[in-house]
Amino acid sequence: MIKALKGMKDLFEPENKRYEFVIQTSTNIAKKYGFELVQTPILEESSLFLRSVGESSDIVGKEMYRFVDKGGNDVCLRPEGTAGVVRAFIEHKMDRAGVKKRYFYHGPMYRYERPQKGRFRQFHQFGVESFGIDDPKEDAFIIAMLKEILDNLGVKATLKLNSLGCPECMPKYREKLIEFLNKIPNLCEDCLRRKELNPIRVLDCKNSNCQMQLKDAPLVTDHLCSSCSEDFKNLQEFLTILKIDFSLDPWLVRGLDYYTKSAFEFISDEIGAQSAVAGGGRYDRLVEFLGGKPTKGIGFAMGIERLLELAKPPLEPRSGVYLGVLSESATKKALKATYELRKKIKTVYEYELKSLKSHLKQADKSECLWCACIGENELIDDTVWVKNLENKEERTVPYSTFKDGSWLTMD
Ligand code: HAM
Repeated sequence: MIKALKGMKDLFEPENKRYEFVIQTSTNIAKKYGFELVQTPILEESSLFLRSVGESSDIVGKEMYRFVDKGGNDVCLRPEGTAGVVRAFIEHKMDRAGVKKRYFYHGPMYRYERPQKGRFRQFHQFGVESFGIDDPKEDAFIIAMLKEILDNLGVKATLKLNSLGCPECMPKYREKLIEFLNKIPNLCEDCLRRKELNPIRVLDCKNSNCQMQLKDAPLVTDHLCSSCSEDFKNLQEFLTILKIDFSLDPWLVRGLDYYTKSAFEFISDEIGAQSAVAGGGRYDRLVEFLGGKPTKGIGFAMGIERLLELAKPPLEPRSGVYLGVLSESATKKALKATYELRKKIKTVYEYELKSLKSHLKQADKSECLWCACIGENELIDDTVWVKNLENKEERTVPYSTFKDGSWLTMD
């Protein structure tokens, strides 16, 4: 039997209802905040991610679905959404002075990780990216939006905040960190690789031996330049004004190399070890790095699969009509009525002949508000029998008013 690939899954109801709820809620809020939809390809040139997400990251180092296509191009399935949106932003010449753009997107991402609860190889993100605004108010605005999305989904999560510095303060901090790391005798292989490529990523190591040895490592927030320090302080003040609780986490370095200044994650303690439901931060150099004109940027992405476990969609009220037939001779009339009525309202037509009791049971399962039936008596009288499954009222309506839907608004 052919099965779905490891770490990839099929989604059915009722999970799909929650999926739609997450996407719809997030989309509505993003639009309300002035973001517009952007759609970029799932397949991109591998170099896009090598240059943005970075070679020190596990994502590029170990987890890319990368191959050479029939044209000899080195391509990969996108492991995240930011790099593609930045590429599109530059390619479509939006990187002009004074341009401010806010985008949202959602769709599948691919990382060849070890699957576990909350961690998949194909997963979905809802993300936003904001370009051209160099002001910590934008950081606060974005975090406030993310908080509003999580609140509206019914998800409780705590905000962790850090600053990762800028090209002014980072190199000096980096030197100090390397000095410290050079004195550590046995870092794991991943850390040795990270030390060469992007030493701050060493702080993210999950290996307990490394963690123990790193506990006295110099931290970036103790080495911020005055501009980063000022922005970080302002961001905290804005969040306080907005009554958004947060805790500072100087160990929060994120799994991607492109961040500068603010970095943040929302963490839930209800979904196990893979507890980050969303993460993001500033990437003020990325547009330049990918060949565009200097443009500041900030964004975040939420992991939909993790949110599906936590989201609390409101109970949907019953809606629509279930139509069943009680005799073979009623099928053509029912078919016609279904076709007409469906123009007005959701209509579920059961082709199979069944008893009234079975139809009522099935109508109940299909979450329709009404169960309608046509049998011999209704054929003779040119009517349809209808029962409201909520208040249990029954009535008989003329066939012509049934199929044009006018009975729905009649008492
Ligand atoms: P990220 O932290 O790598 O950031 O991913 C964002 C979210 O995607 C995570 O917090 C998590 O909820 C979800 N996620 C990541 N990997 C998996 C997985 N294997 N299975 C299930 N869910 C997963 C980014 O991707 C950045 N592009 C976010 C960003 C946008 N930064 C700036 N703009």
